[in-house]
Amino acid sequence: MIIAGNWKMFRGPEPSALAGLDAIVCPPYTRLRECVEAGLMTYAQNVHWESEGAYTGEISAPMLLELGVAGSLVGHSERRQYFGETDETVAKRTRAALTAGLKVIACVGELRAERESGETENVLRRQLSVLEPHPNLVLAYEPVWAIGTGLTATPEMAQEAHAFIKSLLDAPVLYGGSVKADNAAGLLAQPDVDGALVGGASLDVESFKAICQAAERTRS
Ligand code: 13P
Repeated sequence: MIIAGNWKMFRGPEPSALAGLDAIVCPPYTRLRECVEAGLMTYAQNVHWESEGAYTGEISAPMLLELGVAGSLVGHSERRQYFGETDETVAKRTRAALTAGLKVIACVGELRAERESGETENVLRRQLSVLEPHPNLVLAYEPVWAIGTGLTATPEMAQEAHAFIKSLLDAPVLYGGSVKADNAAGLLAQPDVDGALVGGASLDVESFKAICQAAERTRS
């Protein structure tokens, strides 16, 4: 069971408040060092495929490793929606990060219109077609219509999508999209839900701890 908090472009909580928690944090780049120094399992929110070069505004896997960062998110829907991320660039980032020795959480998920038109499985198939299994690769199913909207996939919808994803690629699959302290247990109880990628609720220490505790109870 893996719980990861994606702080997005928020400053986020004080790392010391999370010390000892069995969870991953994905702070903005400017707080990576603080999180590493606080002993937290720390991932970046994105990583470039080249190790260095003329790529203004990008950060490479060796740079993250030098800081003590353990992994990175790749292909978050906000990168796909707002920053031109494609399946091809997701594949390049994922492959380079894994090769360099980072762990990767690669994100997939359909838009609302795609779900409503029955395209969910086709979208997931397309997004996953560029990825290969790797011991350090974890996937996150994040239906875009559930992100930051308060609309959560039901545990049954999550289970169905996760089982489909696993039939295509053998990797643990986290659920993301409005995971909160009060709905985490139901989602995490599903057999193919291997953890959660938490956005908004990870910015609040008490909410994030409650989600970690729900995961702990599911484990035992
Ligand atoms: P919310 O939990 O705020 O819906 O965000 C989910 C997400 O995008 C995590 O990566």
